[in-house]
Amino acid sequence: MPKKLRLAVNTGGGDAPGLNAVLRALTLSALNRGYEVVGIRKGYLGLLDTTQLVPLTFDSVRGITRLGGSILGTNNRGNPLGIRVEENGQERYVDVSDQAVKNFHRLGFDGLIAIGGDGSLKIAAGLAKKGIPIIAVPKTIDNDLASTVMTFGFDTAVATATEAIDKLHSTAESHDRVMVVEVMGRNCGWIALSSGIAGGADVILLPEIPYTIERVCQKIMDREASGRHFSIVVCAEGAAPLGGRMSLLEEAHDGHDARLGGVAPVVAKQIELRTGKESRSIVLGHLQRGGQPTPFDRLLSLRFGATAVRMASEGKWGHMVTYSPSGMGMVTLEEAIAEPGKVPVDCDTVRTARELGVSFGD
Ligand code: F6P
Repeated sequence: MPKKLRLAVNTGGGDAPGLNAVLRALTLSALNRGYEVVGIRKGYLGLLDTTQLVPLTFDSVRGITRLGGSILGTNNRGNPLGIRVEENGQERYVDVSDQAVKNFHRLGFDGLIAIGGDGSLKIAAGLAKKGIPIIAVPKTIDNDLASTVMTFGFDTAVATATEAIDKLHSTAESHDRVMVVEVMGRNCGWIALSSGIAGGADVILLPEIPYTIERVCQKIMDREASGRHFSIVVCAEGAAPLGGRMSLLEEAHDGHDARLGGVAPVVAKQIELRTGKESRSIVLGHLQRGGQPTPFDRLLSLRFGATAVRMASEGKWGHMVTYSPSGMGMVTLEEAIAEPGKVPVDCDTVRTARELGVSFGD
């Protein structure tokens, strides 16, 4: 008789639409095999504070496929391999992973299904080395993992950004203005590229293609000359000028990643100064992480969740589930974190945009 597994599951890092659908799929697939599933609340912190454990049942996951957020909550500041502690007004970072591993085994878990993006996957790989059997599910609106064609949450973020760009068109045109829209993505331009093309942007600025403000303004003035008195510029938050730096809200510090943001107001100001055209900026921010997942993301998330449990039943620990249009696959956790996902600058989507007349400011 195959062993009835006791699985733990957590959702780490920033949230992404589809988290609940993954939780529902993996809970149902596990319970239908006679397994037990325990949710760890607040990312990896629940492995340290065991009052944060909740059994996942048929009832607790009913009707959650369509809900944004995570019923387990999430956390992007709780890395057991280096957790922030304050002592006598001083902060320092302590490795408490041995305690997390001890708790995991003491609680009788057979494996952990870790749902997360690159940061959480690095933690998963670290904990796997210390003896926790882990299967990971790739989550991030940024779609910045090279080993899977798509992460869940991305399609919904692109839909939200595209809807915003659609709405900005009418106000830009009525006022003969330039509207500069900043979308998320960290060091990766997939959200900007996809929503920019789908929303009919005139200029798209990506972290992968350094821009010059002269080329951006050239496109706007070319449109002006052809009787188009408005323009839409979509900026990835990680876009940077040639030879310059990306805009940051907060520098990286003490093991925390830098917080990106603020490129859109800078670009809008420069466009206004150089072209004399009234320009406005808008930062879409966390709107892109919220709300109901699209049908595509729901289906992808459900497939990710079910595949993760299938892999657990086959003992495929130490792997991350991957997606490609031909089916689900897997890579090792090391492969999953080896390479960040980037937009290949010669890919078909970039070429399509160029052929449509979109400027990348290069
Ligand atoms: O990685 C997802 C993401 O939404 C990025 O696109 C963005 O830069 C970052 O997280 C924002 O994180 P926080 O929740 O810390 O503001």
